[in-house]
Amino acid sequence: MSEFPTTRMRRLRKTPKLRDMIAGTVLTKNDLIYPVFVREGISKAEPIPSMPGQYHHSVDEIVDKSKEVAELGIPAILLFGVPKHKDEVASSAYRKDGVVQRAVRAVKDELGDELVVITDVCLCQYMSHGHCGVVKRGKVLNDPTLELLAKVGLSHADAGADVVAPSDMMDGRVKAIREALDREGFTDTLIMSYAAKFASSFYGPFREAAHSAPAFGDRRTYQMDPRSLDESLREVAFDIKEGADIVMIKPALPYLDILYCVKTTFRLPTAAYCVSGEFLMIRSAAEKGYMDEKAAVLEALTSIKRAGADVILTYFAEDVARWLTEGGRT
Ligand code: PBG
Repeated sequence: MSEFPTTRMRRLRKTPKLRDMIAGTVLTKNDLIYPVFVREGISKAEPIPSMPGQYHHSVDEIVDKSKEVAELGIPAILLFGVPKHKDEVASSAYRKDGVVQRAVRAVKDELGDELVVITDVCLCQYMSHGHCGVVKRGKVLNDPTLELLAKVGLSHADAGADVVAPSDMMDGRVKAIREALDREGFTDTLIMSYAAKFASSFYGPFREAAHSAPAFGDRRTYQMDPRSLDESLREVAFDIKEGADIVMIKPALPYLDILYCVKTTFRLPTAAYCVSGEFLMIRSAAEKGYMDEKAAVLEALTSIKRAGADVILTYFAEDVARWLTEGGRT
């Protein structure tokens, strides 16, 4: 390899066209999944204070919202439910007329295959104690939770969800959901598992938005310890064995090393979730005028793609789709 002055790295950066030619990583609209909240008991969209620019949508206007998203060229949404009623068995999570089930039916009736509809499968928003599983004597129980998660996944598939996405981090949930789906004939419903989901402080704004903060303790007995790479590879391997079609790493930016290792190790469709705290960091810095939002978002998401993500869940999806439509390169 030659060196300076024969080689000059700056030659390749001389013009925008040259830089575009050798960029290597190009973010496109097809990389985006837009997470959307649908809330029971409201009639029009309500802004979410902890996530500026994001809304709680009503079941009635979720169809219009979904149309807008599809028209922007975003291929998929991920639906989160915010129910009216919470209890100790998360009964609103698997009701046929639950908020997510109604929303999925409405969106699918109108849009069919024009939009991939993914549903978050978890119990925390539906449990009075805010944990992702069944609680007995202050402990989150694994195996009794699986049955409920399978019921939730099944009810979403029955409503027409294309993909169900378990985010609870119980052991064996992918298997339990896959078996339930297959038993009932939903062999074509995909599972995107939150495979390596870390116990992260970056979920703070989401928990405000989804009314899902745990009433006691934290989620560290089921979500992963941020310090371990090896454990995340084991988690992903299990989910793949159990039948996951797409594996997800969450959060994204503080865990790019995990994302890279998962992609290079398993070579499976891999998603990264750029979570509420990551969204809020950029948005609030931009609102204060200290950072250019468009440049920061495109840089962050392109880096997530470069690290190995095939798809990125981001609250900036609509903005990104607009920027890319305007013809911007990253
Ligand atoms: C539910 C769930 C959470 C998120 C997605 N699904 C919160 C949590 O685990 O406490 C976080 C998403 C975000 O922060 O944007 N289990």
